[in-house]
Amino acid sequence: MKPMPTATHRYPNGWFPVACGDEVTPGRIFTGRLAGEDVVVYRTRRGRLRAVHPYCPHLGAHLGHGGRVEGETIVCPFHGFSFGPAGNCVRTPYGQPPPRASLTHVPVIEANGLVFAWHHESGSAPTWEPVTLPSEGFTKPTTFQITSSGHPHDLVENLIDVGHFGPVHNTKINLVSTEPEGPFVRVAVDLSGVEELGFFKERGLHRLGSLKDIRGQAEFTCSGVGIVSSLVSVPELGVQLAQVAALTPEDPGRMHLRLATSARIESRMGAALAPALSHLVRFITKRQVKQDYEIWANRRPIERPKIATGDGPIMLIRRWAQQFYESADADLGGTPERAGTRRAAAAPITPTGSNGRARHDAPAARNER
Ligand code: FES
Ligand SMILES: [Fe+2]
Repeated sequence: MKPMPTATHRYPNGWFPVACGDEVTPGRIFTGRLAGEDVVVYRTRRGRLRAVHPYCPHLGAHLGHGGRVEGETIVCPFHGFSFGPAGNCVRTPYGQPPPRASLTHVPVIEANGLVFAWHHESGSAPTWEPVTLPSEGFTKPTTFQITSSGHPHDLVENLIDVGHFGPVHNTKINLVSTEPEGPFVRVAVDLSGVEELGFFKERGLHRLGSLKDIRGQAEFTCSGVGIVSSLVSVPELGVQLAQVAALTPEDPGRMHLRLATSARIESRMGAALAPALSHLVRFITKRQVKQDYEIWANRRPIERPKIATGDGPIMLIRRWAQQFYESADADLGGTPERAGTRRAAAAPITPTGSNGRARHDAPAARNER
């Protein structure tokens, strides 16, 4: 894979997915990658999720290569030392555990079908948490993932780059508002015109009256540059869709995207239909992701782009994104702002209508698993 030339190889701070939840079943160890390092994620037999730096404090073996979970402990493949959920060595096969031998934990959160790990270039603890979507009554998330070249802020910029939806996705979106607040950006989208989605147009479905009558709303929330959560509501059909797209900078220029989709339908047949709807939405989004990836894999980030009228709030997002970089050498074309320091409780997203600030009048492969 061709690494993408970037203005910098510094990684942004924030939460990034390192696994899908169903890749870490009880008793399983999974090695994810984040910011140039492996992250070993495991779930104990009782279901406790842990993420640790991979190297054993005894003599440095990699726990993701031959390590195993035994009950509530993770066991190193080299000399068989066992480490408890708090990280400390609780047992060896031949003597007292070495004093102060402990694994280094990585802060981890599981939500909406994905496992997110915290990365901070200076090693600071998390100061905020990603927004989580409601899950009650929703189908189990169906996931998709793909690795390619790109830049860490490609995902959030893609959301508000209204000009690319026609040429790349054969569709359009009506961006209602974009509101940055601390480490979050809330983006409201008006879904009237959903029949214009390329998926429907190419099948002639865009002429269906029933599709044209659909009135829905979508609210997207960016939690840092790594996570875009969306909640789509079509009240007259009793349909809600929850989707999390998240992009992990694994190595310089190498990005891993994970997508988790779930649906809820409030009707007698809802429980039976929702999984099919969830899979359809996953299929459509996967297609869009591949279309974006063709561009991301081959483009060069322009630090001072020549923005056109109607482009969407690209520079607003770039200025906001600066807070996740340790220094101004991650030049995304914006003015550096002070790092975000607020703690925000994870809260469900409530779809809103036209709510105000920063309004816009312009109309959202490789190694995939
Ligand atoms: S290196 Fe892990 S037990 Fe020796
Ligand atoms: Fe796109």
